Amino acid sequence: MKSVSALRKCSLTHSSWPTSPLVFDFLAPSHLRQNYRGYKSTTQTPFWGLSSDTSSEPISNTPKPKYVLSPKQREYLDSALRVNQAGELAATLIYQAQTPQVVRSHPHLRPLMKHMYDQEAVHFSVFNQMIAKHQVRPTAMYPVWQVAATVLGWSTAAMGREAAMACTEAVETEIGSHYNDQVREILSWQAEAESRGEELDDELKDMLATFRKIRDEELEHLDHAVENDAKEARPYDPLVNVIRLGCRAAIRISEKV
Ligand SMILES: [Fe+2]
Ligand SMILES: [Fe+2]
Repeated sequence: MKSVSALRKCSLTHSSWPTSPLVFDFLAPSHLRQNYRGYKSTTQTPFWGLSSDTSSEPISNTPKPKYVLSPKQREYLDSALRVNQAGELAATLIYQAQTPQVVRSHPHLRPLMKHMYDQEAVHFSVFNQMIAKHQVRPTAMYPVWQVAATVLGWSTAAMGREAAMACTEAVETEIGSHYNDQVREILSWQAEAESRGEELDDELKDMLATFRKIRDEELEHLDHAVENDAKEARPYDPLVNVIRLGCRAAIRISEKV
């Protein structure tokens, strides 16, 4: 398991949150078509690294050439956005299912549960907007993850506060690590671009900053879970290991399907 400090080695540099969450908004295609009218398809005109699309670039005295992503890199980003959207969907549903039971027996946890849910709702909204904007296909497993996440949230909360927190610890460990892998991958592209005297497309820079911010918030949730006795859950090891295994499987499946 990667340490939390290792996961946090890249600092937050930028924020690009929407002003209001759009939970479940991707399920309303006509609404999204209105909101995102004018964006281009990634399949025909991918947004990242297109050197020919310079109409919206700021005027600069010495503009660097843009780093052009390979088809494999574009495929990586499509897959990353699909997984991230699915993960944030699951996170919102886990907290939604846990909160009533946890808060009923431990009212002092209401602000914490609300805080974590609210952050997940914003994450979900961010990725709903990103996949709509770049026309990335959501995972075909979406309905399955909806049921699985709700069952996971409900059942861990039924086991008690400690098990609910152990669930958060397990999920955030995997998700935080996954976001960190994405940050590292884009940073490697940035390094390659700089070595060639090029720079990343502005939109890709924003995406990198967004991934970093969300990763840091997931790791904050992990800390909250540990502070609230996640490790006192019984049986701790089997519970956390099964949830982490499930998360890794869901990530692998959502990358492809
Ligand atoms: Fe999240
Ligand atoms: Fe989270």
